[in-house]
Amino acid sequence: MSTTTLPTPAQLQITPRDRRFGRQAAAPRLWHGGSVEATAIYNALSTTFPAGEAFFVESVRAFREGTPPKLADEIKAFTTQEAIHSREHDAFNKRAAEAGYDLGQLEAQVEKRLAITKSKPPIVSLAATMALEHFTAILAHQLLADPRHLQGAEQEAADLWRWHAVEEIEHKGVAYDTWLHATRHWHRSKRWKVKAKVMLYVTRNFLVDRTAGALELMRQDGVTGVRAWTLLLWYLWVRPGMFRKIAGAWASFFLPGFHPWNHDDRDLLRAYEANVGAVAEPKRKVGPAV
Ligand SMILES: [Fe+2]
Ligand SMILES: [Fe+2]
Repeated sequence: MSTTTLPTPAQLQITPRDRRFGRQAAAPRLWHGGSVEATAIYNALSTTFPAGEAFFVESVRAFREGTPPKLADEIKAFTTQEAIHSREHDAFNKRAAEAGYDLGQLEAQVEKRLAITKSKPPIVSLAATMALEHFTAILAHQLLADPRHLQGAEQEAADLWRWHAVEEIEHKGVAYDTWLHATRHWHRSKRWKVKAKVMLYVTRNFLVDRTAGALELMRQDGVTGVRAWTLLLWYLWVRPGMFRKIAGAWASFFLPGFHPWNHDDRDLLRAYEANVGAVAEPKRKVGPAV
């Protein structure tokens, strides 16, 4: 695919919204509707973000040199968004720790996975980022499209997750376009093979690590064994069934001609802006890339 025919919408504006969440009052330990398993999976996901998103930024920026000006600008806005996400999830994770959770084991696992990827050539880090950004974008889509995922959650926490989801959708093409640019001289079959292999690898790790992380946090709430597995798997795969519901969008990644913006879901962004944008919301101005 030529870099001049990228399907990222030409008018798309990536707008960092510099917001802060949950700084006022302490949230209850089981902030997600009093549910052990719902709180556990969202806390386990959040544990990955501070280090994970810093890694995404590093991986994409390593290939910014020589990108077309529009993409270079988008990389800059993506960097700002992810840096603010890291800050807010770091604060969110501190509140989970204050509520009594020990996130040490989960954080160590994230560091371990990142160290393995970083030990490989930089293009592998970019490929892993591109695959994981598709993952976050389809999770974000599902989170915003179906209000049942955050039903019963504390307001500030739900606001944080929705805000993050919006920006993940907004910048979902950036890592992919950077990947297309970085591999523009590759034969398409090589590009497909590498991206498919990397997606399968990160998916396996994502499912194994997040499930193990959530089970560990559930253990800290005294829920273990078959009961823990049943509650968690039911929550993830049946109702509300986030993982089941993203399966089709996940599989689309392997289709020839895939691009994150083949699925234009900017209606979710407009709906968010219509609801939340009415509230004064600081937006950080991002100048042109230099
Ligand atoms: Fe993010
Ligand atoms: Fe992202």
